Amino acid sequence: MMKRILLLAVLMMFSQQALAESFFTNLFRFKGVAPVKNDLYEEGCAECHYAYQPGLLPKRSWEKLMLADELEDHFGEVADLEEEDRIEILNFLVENAADTSFYKRSSKINRSIPDDATPLRITEVPYIKRKHKPMTDKYVKNNPKVKSLINCNACHREIDKGIFDDDTILIPNYGYWSELDDD
Ligand code: HEC
Ligand code: HEC
Repeated sequence: MMKRILLLAVLMMFSQQALAESFFTNLFRFKGVAPVKNDLYEEGCAECHYAYQPGLLPKRSWEKLMLADELEDHFGEVADLEEEDRIEILNFLVENAADTSFYKRSSKINRSIPDDATPLRITEVPYIKRKHKPMTDKYVKNNPKVKSLINCNACHREIDKGIFDDDTILIPNYGYWSELDDD
């Protein structure tokens, strides 16, 4: 009997330590947005711009963006898809959207959007807008290697991994953001 209780206590200690460990590694890993990948999404949505991670917008935004009618006039472009592909991409986006993600940047994005708003642009999400206030024309519009804030990957060099930390931001023609005096 005593042996069994001891064994149980040891087992409990181990599992608690494992739990604590995974808790802390996850805290670190869940900092940015989920770096999920999907071949069909890359094919259908990364022809004209970066394949924005699903965790950059809430579910309702993706649902609206991905309506067949909307895709016919997608910011003035035609971005239509085979119906089967449209549904598959929509599901991928919705399943990994900002409002279902544990990632810190995704929840910040989500919390900054009023309940009655459905932004179709990441660049119009309040949190994203606020964070990019220092990104004046000289860094973006008048910077031939950036041109528009929609080109996230021009500056966020680790965005493929879902990482947006300051020391991974390298503004073309200017250098590392963490080393510039403007912030
Ligand atoms: C034929 C080109 C094209 C394709 C294909 C395309 N897009 Fe776009 N997308 C655009 C253009 C043009 C804009 C607006 C760019 C601008 O404002 O300068 C845009 C903007 C966006 C934005 C808003 C960016 C921001 O934050 O301002 C999102 C989100 C987006 N697209 C998602 C998608 C998704 C999802 C797909 C796949 C179904 C897709 N796009 C396919 C051309 C395209
Ligand atoms: C011209 C370069 C540039 C472009 C393009 C750009 N960003 Fe940024 N971004 C920055 C800088 C610089 C900061 C940090 C500003 C600050 O807080 O000092 C930042 C901050 C962020 C943050 C917050 C990071 C944090 O630590 O809180 C997120 C998230 C982010 N950007 C996402 C995006 C997304 C998504 C896009 C594309 C739709 C984008 N950015 C386009 C330069 C850029």
